[in-house]
Amino acid sequence: MTDTTFTPRVFSGIKPSGGLTLGNYLGAIKRFVGMQGQMETVYCVVDLHAITVWQDPKELANMTREVAAGYLAAGLDPSSSILFNQSQVAGHAELGWIFNCVARVGWMDRMTQFKDKAGANAEKVSLGLYAYPSLMAADILLYHATHVPVGDDQKQHVELTRDIAAKFNHDFKTDFFPITEPVIEGPATRIMNLRDGTKKMSKSGESDMERINMTDDADKIAKKFKKAKTDPEPLPETVEGLADRPEARNLVEIYAALDETTPEAVIAQYPGAGWGTFKPALADLAVAKLSPISDEMARFMDDPAEIDRILGAGSEKARAIAEPILRKTYDIVGILRS
Ligand code: AMP
Ligand code: TRP
Repeated sequence: MTDTTFTPRVFSGIKPSGGLTLGNYLGAIKRFVGMQGQMETVYCVVDLHAITVWQDPKELANMTREVAAGYLAAGLDPSSSILFNQSQVAGHAELGWIFNCVARVGWMDRMTQFKDKAGANAEKVSLGLYAYPSLMAADILLYHATHVPVGDDQKQHVELTRDIAAKFNHDFKTDFFPITEPVIEGPATRIMNLRDGTKKMSKSGESDMERINMTDDADKIAKKFKKAKTDPEPLPETVEGLADRPEARNLVEIYAALDETTPEAVIAQYPGAGWGTFKPALADLAVAKLSPISDEMARFMDDPAEIDRILGAGSEKARAIAEPILRKTYDIVGILRS
């Protein structure tokens, strides 16, 4: 094996499977924007991942545009990041198939997200949902990405990507694929549900009151934080006092992430504060940070043709990176190309 060094490159993606949440913004998009300019950045709307569960064909294109609008409104610049939707670069599905033949069923069986999503219904879910992490590995490795910023819930999938790269390299006696680093840092790697601090805030949770959507207006944001579940105690005097208080800790972490500071600094600013003080302050901060973004999202959504143009141009740039990597992969596997 030769010692290959890989150019630093970021890849990440979000599924167009419902409206973007504050979890997506703080755990993913805001951090994507932060990495822009530091190295090459490739950001994707992963529509092929979305259809692992049923998506209404009349809605899917628009939800894809909405995630793209979220990226753009939050500050991703298509001239410094590559921005596209997954299905426009056929190499994702092609490399995904190769990886289906590298990954082992036993590895997939250990994926906690699959177990959570499939639940007792595992016989009835799509085969795609089961193979999902292998497609995710393909997304990342099709670009030889070295860094993958994600929320905490995706850690296991990025670790599986490393296992797939290592097994491919081992089986084919090569060092062609990099061993990618998950980038999971900052106070917002796991934003919790506002009604139950033990569950992740997600697009698909049953009640709208449990999440903040990036498109919620000021009244909705204030109402949702006001009704957010907490325990009866006020905020502690030090951050250690948040241990075993999942709802309180979540609200402090959201504040810290929005204000680009740490939970320690938030507690130092509001030591011993009651919820009647802290919740309105948090709502004001969230509105101040989110409303310019949601206004900008709405502006982008008024011009879908422009979004489509940006995604089309981004797909071309993505293909230019992906095609030689896919071609080389086929060569390594020994597949005839004529
Ligand atoms: P998804 O909406 O499942 O496609 O997630 C897209 C990205 O947002 C992934 O990097 C997730 O880890 C991240 N994300 C989603 N929900 C949350 C959350 N509640 N807290 C932190 N990150 C999240
Ligand atoms: N699986 C990720 C999620 O549900 C989305 C995703 C698909 C992704 N492909 C990716 C994230 C590649 C990072 C890199 O959140």
